[in-house]
Amino acid sequence: MRIIIGSDHAGFDLKELCRRHLEKCSDFVIKDVGVYSTDSCDYPIIAHQISKAVVKGEYDRGLLICGTGLGMSITANRYNGIRAALCHNLYTVRMSRLHNDANILVMGGRVIGVGIAIEMLDLFLETGFEGGRHLNRVKQIDRKV
Ligand code: RB5
Repeated sequence: MRIIIGSDHAGFDLKELCRRHLEKCSDFVIKDVGVYSTDSCDYPIIAHQISKAVVKGEYDRGLLICGTGLGMSITANRYNGIRAALCHNLYTVRMSRLHNDANILVMGGRVIGVGIAIEMLDLFLETGFEGGRHLNRVKQIDRKV
């Protein structure tokens, strides 16, 4: 699986932790587009970069982290084909994959604890899309039916 990850300054610490966690798994190709420090920056730049790469099919899944997750998810969901799920617990992560076929996980670095963040990330990557009646609904998001 090819995974592209990024954050702003407020998500930097959690993004670093997630990257180090993902790098332990040799099945993953990881691209970290930054940021690379806690210097203040503009979250939309990273959200646009990751969303474009996922829409183009260059990566299978994305991970976006800002302070709350709000700015990243609002920006990413402007793209047709992006289903960015701002999640706060394991239930919403599981459902984002089963029912919504979410392709970007968004978390708030100032909201989510380190332990659960890693569990959420693992669950996001290992859970498949249920399809069936949900496939038609997902197509309706981008007005494809
Ligand atoms: C940065 O202070 C903060 O506004 C940003 O990380 C994010 O939470 C925006 O939605």
